[in-house]
Amino acid sequence: MKDKLQEIRQNALKEINENKNLKAIEDLRVKFLGKKGEITSILKDMGSLAPDLRPIIGQMANEVRLEIENKINETKDALNKEIRRQKLEAEKIDITVKTKKVKRGHRHPLLQTAEELEDLFISMGFSVVSGPEIESVENNFDALNSPENHPSRDLSDTFYINEDLLLRTHTSPVQIRAMKEFGAPLRIVSAGRTFRFDDVDDTHSPMFHQLEGLVVDENISMANLIHSLDIFIKELFGEDMKTRYRPHHFPFTEPSAEVDVTCIKCRGEGCPVCNFTGWSMELLGCGMVHPEVLENCGIDSEKYTGFAFGMGIDRITMVKYGINDIRLLFENDNRFLEQF
Ligand code: PHE
Repeated sequence: MKDKLQEIRQNALKEINENKNLKAIEDLRVKFLGKKGEITSILKDMGSLAPDLRPIIGQMANEVRLEIENKINETKDALNKEIRRQKLEAEKIDITVKTKKVKRGHRHPLLQTAEELEDLFISMGFSVVSGPEIESVENNFDALNSPENHPSRDLSDTFYINEDLLLRTHTSPVQIRAMKEFGAPLRIVSAGRTFRFDDVDDTHSPMFHQLEGLVVDENISMANLIHSLDIFIKELFGEDMKTRYRPHHFPFTEPSAEVDVTCIKCRGEGCPVCNFTGWSMELLGCGMVHPEVLENCGIDSEKYTGFAFGMGIDRITMVKYGINDIRLLFENDNRFLEQF
C-alpha cells in the first residue's frame, strides 16, 4: 500500500505538471482527491490492514493528499495569475495616443436669455406656452384689433406666405391662441422667433426674438402691470434699476406704454451706450388688454381685465452683455459664441 501511495503521488505530481489549464487541473483534483478518487479509495481499504500499520499508512495517505492538494492550489493560483496578466495585457490602453478632442458646445446666448426670462416668470407663477412661427393673418392682426389700414400689415413690413398666412410679426398672436384655448383666468409667457421686413443694421434684423406675457383675471389693473414688470426688471438686471413708462399706442392694448430701463452700462449716469440719456433703448411694449381683444377670444370683458407685454429677447441680450451689433448674434461665429 505504501508503494501504491508513492505511485499515486508521483503520477499526480507528474500529471499536474503536464496539464496547464484550469479545467484539466480540476479534473485531476477529482481524480486523485475527490470522493471517488484514488486517495479516498486507499483510505477506504484501510480496514483490511493490520492494526499496527493503519496509523502509519493513514499518516502517509494524509501527507500525500496534502502534498497533492498544495500542488493543485499552487498550480491553480499560477494559472489564474497568468490569465489575469494576459487579460490586462490585452486591455492595455495607451493614454499617450493623440486623439481628436471633442469640442463641447453650449446653448446660444439668445436661448440662454430666453430661458432665463422664462424661469423668472415661472417663479412668478406664469406658465410657458408656445405658438407657431407661421401664423394666420387673423391671429397676427385681426383678432388683435389691428385694422386693415394699419401700417404693420403692409406688404413692405410683413412676410406674407399667402393672403391668409404670414411669418408672425410679433409673439402677440400667442395671446389669442392662449385665450381661445384656456380661457380666463390666465397667466402665460411665450418666447420665440418673429419676422419683419427690416433692413439689417446694428440694431435691426428681419428675424428677431420676442417674449410675450399675458395675464387675464378679475380686477387686474395697470398697477399690477407696472408692479409685475418692475419686479421682473429688478430680478433680471439688479435692484437699482429704474423703469420709465412712456405712453404709446398698440391696437390691442389700451392704455399702452413703452418701457425704458436704466442704462445697464452706466447705471443711469449717461454714457455712449445710452447716448448719454441714462436710459437703455426701449426694451418692452405693454398695456391693458383691449376689451375688444378679450371679446374676440370669448372672454367676458365686463368680468375680466388683463395686461400684456412683449419684449425683445435680442435687445435684452445685447443690453445684458454689452453687445453693440445684433448681427453678431446671428452670424454664428464661434469666436463670438464661445464667450458666453
Ligand atoms: N407686440 C408688440 C410689438 O411687437 C409688443 C406688445 C406686446 C405690446 C404686448 C403690448 C402688449 O411691438
